[in-house]
Amino acid sequence: ALSKLEILEKKNAEALLGGGQARIDAQHQKGKLTARERLDLLMDPGSFEEIGKFVMHRSKDFGLDKEYYLGDGVVTGYGTVNGRLVYVFSQDFTVLGGSLSETHAEKIVKIMDLAMKNGAPVIGLNDSGGARIQEGVVSLGGYADIFYKNTLASGVVPQISAIMGPCAGGAVYSPAITDFIMMVENTSYMFVTGPNVVKTVTHETVTSEELGGASTHSTKSGVTHFTAANEVACIQQIKQLLSYMPQNCEDTAPVYPYEAQGEELRPELDAIIPENPNQPYDIREVITGIIDADSFMEVHQNFAENIVVGFARLGGRSIGIVGNQPAVLAGVLDINASTKAARFVRFCDSFNIPLLVLEDVPGFLPGTDQEWRGIITNGAKLLYAFCEATVPRITVITRKAYGGAYDVMNSKHIGADMNYAWPTAEIAVMGAKGAAEIIFKREIAQAENPEAKLQEKVDDYQRKFATPYRAAHRGFVDEVIVPAQTRQKLIRAFKMLENKVDQLPRKKHGNIPL
Ligand code: COA
Repeated sequence: ALSKLEILEKKNAEALLGGGQARIDAQHQKGKLTARERLDLLMDPGSFEEIGKFVMHRSKDFGLDKEYYLGDGVVTGYGTVNGRLVYVFSQDFTVLGGSLSETHAEKIVKIMDLAMKNGAPVIGLNDSGGARIQEGVVSLGGYADIFYKNTLASGVVPQISAIMGPCAGGAVYSPAITDFIMMVENTSYMFVTGPNVVKTVTHETVTSEELGGASTHSTKSGVTHFTAANEVACIQQIKQLLSYMPQNCEDTAPVYPYEAQGEELRPELDAIIPENPNQPYDIREVITGIIDADSFMEVHQNFAENIVVGFARLGGRSIGIVGNQPAVLAGVLDINASTKAARFVRFCDSFNIPLLVLEDVPGFLPGTDQEWRGIITNGAKLLYAFCEATVPRITVITRKAYGGAYDVMNSKHIGADMNYAWPTAEIAVMGAKGAAEIIFKREIAQAENPEAKLQEKVDDYQRKFATPYRAAHRGFVDEVIVPAQTRQKLIRAFKMLENKVDQLPRKKHGNIPL
């Protein structure tokens, strides 16, 4: 007979094998790693402590009384990533397709409860065929328990979801509620209903990849915030993303040592804005010109590219950046850009990450498409998100700040702490030509030479309003700065704002226009 220690050893070995070697091999053949291999890559070596390794399901129907696997298709526990505590679950596709049973769900909920009480991020590595079909409603109940916890944890601790295999049906709604989704190219997909159901209902023929692969969700739907070429790169991204975040909403992000050049001038910034105000430039050049070297991590890189959002460091401190992108659609705000930026602003505000806004915006995108799909409601999300953000907030107007978009993009009026403008800034209700055509319509029409009259009025408007000085005279802009000094000014101002205390009026919760 086996000794008690040998029994334990045997059980441990069995649990490590999940659904068995044949299914592990099948997983590898698909170009996927196993749940435990993924954890090995994610966690600091030797730091992972497993919880619930011997948990088994309690179902008896459809043959499940003969199919038991220790751990029940998900590996859960805690450990450290770059020395910081995280809670993690990693679904094991080799066990009944990683399908979610009542007990599988209980294991996930258990680590989420621990995460909330102890204030540390939750990372989910998803690879699952969805609700365990043999279990019926108890499995659905398990999903709902997770969704509920995800919602309660939202804004309390950061939640990151990596999709490393199928994620279909109800399963998609847990990642959707978490803060960030990452998808692995070609081996992961997410959809509410799969290609077969789509075919029956809408008669569309579509592959899983087209319907819900990484490229679809990073470009068309914006469901995923990041994509990675493979699982190793995906896990690397999770680690990088964590480095910008605090452990919880009461904490601040870690500060990384940054050498003495913390206050150097960046003369390359003086040459970025083109002479011609209608000529595009890449706002990422401005971002790179300001931040610590190689510190930018862009979020939603291929979705709504007319706005750029992401994390960076300034003098070693984590900031969130929102920048209009003049290189795409002239940097206009449209529905997707507004919701993309609004969600990012709210994440940063939830987790005490100061915000830097780089503004060059000609306005909101006109047209029936945008109006009929609700640019009013959607644009309002971004306005609302900035208005209610209490973190340190700084704006730099690099060029255009026109119309309502001027107000929306973290203007002084809606609570920004410091507003800078470059000498190239044009802060006005609209561009000079449009303005002149409206306010001098009659005068221009009646002129002997309407062309010349129009030009005269345009020049006049341009001289008076297409500058930062009207706004600076009012104090809506705190200082007009030399671009090369931007980094220096921002480091000082964010330092000055470090202990900012600001509170919203007491309420149950606001009603952001959804
Ligand atoms: N419940 C129970 N078992 C499931 C399951 C589920 N939801 N999804 C997959 N499995 C099992 C399969 O029966 C199979 O078991 P086996 O290894 O004993 O043969 C194993 O997991 C692997 O599944 P398989 O279909 O062989 O893998 P695949 O890579 O070819 O396909 C899916 C993966 C997810 C596309 C496919 O399994 C599927 O469509 N599953 C059902 C998805 C669904 O509708 N879920 C409910 C909605 S919430």
